[in-house]
Amino acid sequence: MAIAGQTFTGEDDDFQEIHDWLDAYEKKTGISIPMHIDGASGGFVNPFLYPDYKWDFRLPRVQSINASGHKFGLVPPGLGWVVFKERKIFNDELIFYVNYLGGEMPTATLNFTRGTAPIAVQAYMMLRLGRDGYTRIMRQNLDNAIHLRKRLVDSGYFVIMNEAQRIPVVALTLDKQVKKFNEFDVSAKVRERGWVLSAYTMPPDAQEVRSLRVVVRPHLNLTVIDTLANDIIGACQFLEKHGGTATAPQLHGHDRSAPKC
Ligand SMILES: Cc1ncc(COP(=O)(O)O)c(C=O)c1O
Repeated sequence: MAIAGQTFTGEDDDFQEIHDWLDAYEKKTGISIPMHIDGASGGFVNPFLYPDYKWDFRLPRVQSINASGHKFGLVPPGLGWVVFKERKIFNDELIFYVNYLGGEMPTATLNFTRGTAPIAVQAYMMLRLGRDGYTRIMRQNLDNAIHLRKRLVDSGYFVIMNEAQRIPVVALTLDKQVKKFNEFDVSAKVRERGWVLSAYTMPPDAQEVRSLRVVVRPHLNLTVIDTLANDIIGACQFLEKHGGTATAPQLHGHDRSAPKC
């Protein structure tokens, strides 16, 4: 499983390198391992901004891809997609056939009755915006993310974590010169102004690295981005003067491996 737009920094795994490694592994052992791509965020960005980028079924080992409708798919919470390369890859044992509402109906959900409104909204958005519309919105999001990143880096408080990032996510870490407060202090301080800014510690072996992450979706237009930048910089100026007190949350075992964004 490889990620297109990972949670902490928005960066991609190196799909081609993983693919090549699995090819070499198969040559050595005879074992062929397929790939799943977690495109929770990248799945609705890459096709529009980087049509020539091979992150998907163009890599022969890739058999399935997930993408979150409720992230860059631009629909309300509750919708995720999984696309299988071929029908036969989907495990039939996951399907229940139920005699319901006048006929036999296949169902592969974990629970039964669910709201379907986000699916209708997704269909509407795709028809309404089309490929051109999604491309324009993703381009705008990315331009706004680059603007926010520049403002925060120019403030002198932050350095960029994700030079290689493709999706509209700004991931920063505080400059080493900053001694009086940390990323969790900044997150707590801007919350007073109504912003929810994710601060993360990295997984094991990089725990001392912390990130501050902003996911830039269309509701953050340029005016709002500038307000956010002013609030983050204002929070840093306050903390520089008064000091911070926050500590990173202590996560253990399985908690750490299941980040929520
Ligand atoms: C890389 C990645 N995969 C999967 C998920 C889960 O997606 P969803 O909330 O749509 O289930 C997230 C974030 O929530 C994510 O950042």
